Amino acid sequence: MTQSIARFLELESSFGAPNYLPLDIVLEKGEGVWVWDILGKKYLDCLASYSALNQGHCHPKLISVVETQSKTLSLTSRAFRNTKLPELYEALHRFSGKDMFLLMNSGAEAVETAIKMARRWGYRHKGIERDKAEIIVCENNFHGRTTTLISFSSEEAYKKDFGPFTPGFKIIPFGNAAALENAITENTVAFLVEPIQAEAGVLIPPDHYLKSVESICKKANVLFIADEIQTGLGRTGEKFCFERESVNPDLITIGKALSGGYYPISAVLGNKNILELMEPGSHGSTFGGNPFGCAIAKQALDILIEEDLISKSKELGIYALEKFQKINSPLIKEVRGIGLLIGIELNVSARTICLKLADEGILCKDTHDNVIRFTPPLVITKQEIDFAVEKFRKVLG
Ligand SMILES: Cc1ncc(COP(=O)(O)O)c(C=O)c1O
Repeated sequence: MTQSIARFLELESSFGAPNYLPLDIVLEKGEGVWVWDILGKKYLDCLASYSALNQGHCHPKLISVVETQSKTLSLTSRAFRNTKLPELYEALHRFSGKDMFLLMNSGAEAVETAIKMARRWGYRHKGIERDKAEIIVCENNFHGRTTTLISFSSEEAYKKDFGPFTPGFKIIPFGNAAALENAITENTVAFLVEPIQAEAGVLIPPDHYLKSVESICKKANVLFIADEIQTGLGRTGEKFCFERESVNPDLITIGKALSGGYYPISAVLGNKNILELMEPGSHGSTFGGNPFGCAIAKQALDILIEEDLISKSKELGIYALEKFQKINSPLIKEVRGIGLLIGIELNVSARTICLKLADEGILCKDTHDNVIRFTPPLVITKQEIDFAVEKFRKVLG
């Protein structure tokens, strides 16, 4: 039975805090790269829930794990042990090569956790005076929405009237290794950076940036923290985006696609000498490491490997980038990207274009007024990319 879109829009606007401005499309079904709205209209999902759906919508193997695990054991809390948490640790070790992990729920919590770990490491290993630890971050960063994380945002909209803020952070320009070197003091414990600033509009740093970052951090005994929540797990054609520069950060945060699109789960990955500082009582979460989420996350990682989605993302990313770059439109300022993380910067309002694309069966979301992100599920095919490019060409023409 056709349901009225107006009814859902009205319910949402009367009861929901207005902290989002979604397109007025009410979805009710998804499969692979496709979604359907309540009127039965079919769309190609070119956002993949901000890269949380790398494995596609409703992957059959994930459905099977969700069904089985939901009937077996969902939650133990960390007061007791379960079998799925250690199995996920093992899978994360195989996937990342790191040797210790701490599981949380949202991406923001993973970054908060990494900040706590870095501060601890600074006090206990580096001998920094208590409460003096500094962490260096980049302009235009996006690491999440908690009070501490917005404390070091350079985006006024994220901060306005939410103060007072957490001290201990220093902001430097993104992509500028010399600025990092100059900003380090004896109290610096870490440099926290996104390998590509996706939320800021797919901003790619200059070549060798991360290599320089790694060597500056090593020299100054400062931890290098890579936030791979959006860029990791195959999105940029590598397991982690930093692999492009063959670096090895001390701490890595992941989230989003670790969920398989089903159940929020995030993690900090690192080496034992840092993570072992989190003794019992120092940190935790009721749902962090629950068997339901862990079983799903292990399957989500397995799918990336078994279906070769990481190299597919690299290959299809090159294909898609070239096709988008060939669109001849005065409305396009620049097309840039790595793997299937592509930003199309426009000279006009991106939202207006997104609305037109939706009419054509393409779901995209504007980022920072004038950038559209093309970040489909990694299970997309060449034909589906062709379909998307044709629709962009039509709308931008
Ligand atoms: C790089 C990065 N870090 C952290 C986050 C926050 O993740 P979450 O929304 O799950 O808290 C995001 C979300 O977009 C992100 O892109």
